[in-house]
Amino acid sequence: MMLTILLAALVASVASTCALAQVTIPNDDPLIYYNGRWDETPETWWTGSGFKLHAANLSSLTLNLGPYTSDPVLLGVSVDYGDFAFLNATQGANVIPLAGLEEGKAAAVVRINSPGWEENNMNLDSIELNEGASLLPYEPSKLVFQFIGDSLSAGQFLDGGVDQAWPFLTAEYFKAEHNIMAQPGIALTDIDSYGNVHGMDYQFFMTEDTQSYYDALHNYTTPWDFSRDQPPATHVVILIGANDSGNNLTASTFYDSYTTFLDKIRLIYPTQPFLIFLPWGWPSADAPPAPYYVGIYQEVVQYRKSLGDENIYLVNATGWVEYTDVFPSNLHPTVAGHEKIAGLFESWLEDWGLRPEGEWATPV
Ligand SMILES: *[C@@H]1O[C@H](CO)[C@@H](O)[C@H](O)[C@H]1NC(C)=O
Ligand SMILES: *[C@@H]1O[C@H](CO)[C@@H](O)[C@H](O)[C@H]1NC(C)=O
Ligand SMILES: *[C@@H]1O[C@H](CO)[C@@H](O)[C@H](O)[C@H]1NC(C)=O
Ligand SMILES: *[C@@H]1O[C@H](CO)[C@@H](O)[C@H](O)[C@H]1NC(C)=O
Ligand SMILES: *[C@@H]1O[C@H](CO)[C@@H](O)[C@H](O)[C@H]1NC(C)=O
Ligand SMILES: *[C@@H]1O[C@H](CO)[C@@H](O)[C@H](O)[C@H]1NC(C)=O
Repeated sequence: MMLTILLAALVASVASTCALAQVTIPNDDPLIYYNGRWDETPETWWTGSGFKLHAANLSSLTLNLGPYTSDPVLLGVSVDYGDFAFLNATQGANVIPLAGLEEGKAAAVVRINSPGWEENNMNLDSIELNEGASLLPYEPSKLVFQFIGDSLSAGQFLDGGVDQAWPFLTAEYFKAEHNIMAQPGIALTDIDSYGNVHGMDYQFFMTEDTQSYYDALHNYTTPWDFSRDQPPATHVVILIGANDSGNNLTASTFYDSYTTFLDKIRLIYPTQPFLIFLPWGWPSADAPPAPYYVGIYQEVVQYRKSLGDENIYLVNATGWVEYTDVFPSNLHPTVAGHEKIAGLFESWLEDWGLRPEGEWATPV
């Protein structure tokens, strides 16, 4: 009898020791591989920002999120490079389902990001792993895409946000890292456009996206330190202009904005190819898609070439998107539409000479 009680007490004490032995990873652990833009808090800005973990002996993962977290923040989670699953998280402890994690596997890669096109602030306090788990270095891919765009790149109106949008899908196909600076309603020209107090010509150089203007806890912007983009982008892809056109900016204003913007980012990306989208236009039920800034995208590319910059290419997306590929209510691509665009851009890149990595740089 006495022995049974003693044993029960022992079991209980072992169990509570186990519960306490969870591994806590602080947000400044150098083995967390951060992508996108995080401020000092640290808090995510710009859709798709997040982090990647390579973990040994992993069976459970909890995120402790701080007070700057959007209520709720949509999170995308992928285990061992599988499809992204989505959940809503809030301030406090959030148990992250690890769908597809093989039991007893020595090491796994977990990717978590904030794919919403608004209300996408994830304030990471710490990460709790199961007892016995530990972080290993995450080796980033040699290919790194930098996308720059508006709602058409941000995955606006999709349940899974940017994780279902063509830029992200393209990066996945090439087994590449990605940073996506895309904001619904934003113009390239630095004007107030559909709720964005600045254009991309200003905001791209900031840590925070234009939503910060409306954020009671963080109503300011800080310059982005581009040396934090590690490794640096290998390819820069730009699809922009819909909202300059929506604001009736003239072709010559748009041309000036575009050439000035490229002059500026050439200093950040001296040798990287610039891939400039000639947009697919606005589809309609009974006519071909309506283009905007006809001829200007070609002139922008020609201007760079006239300076001796041969590392710039026009991606002619004319005809890539039809009315059946968009939501009739807002003319933005559906999930199937984004998959179609990604497929066409992947083919374009392969014809151009880019090959997908054979394996992810951190294999599983
Ligand atoms: C994983 O767990 C096993 C068994 O408990 C242990 O031997 C090994 O050292 C652990 N690996 C790491 C990297 O922590
Ligand atoms: C997250 O919450 C929003 C409402 O804020 C809801 O529309 C959406 O379906 C939720 N997503 C998931 C994956 O639960
Ligand atoms: C510009 O942004 C607004 C707000 O996101 C969007 O409704 C609109 O479709 C976009 N394009 C144009 C041409 O106005
Ligand atoms: C944010 O700050 C700007 C000026 O710095 C002010 O005009 C704006 O009203 C503020 N917005 C909020 C939501 O506090
Ligand atoms: C742009 O011009 C069109 C056609 O003249 C007009 O209907 C629309 O209201 C204008 N948009 C803006 C933002 O001024
Ligand atoms: C873009 O593609 C369309 C459709 O194939 C073609 O008509 C147009 O001439 C092309 N434009 C350029 C600049 O290559």
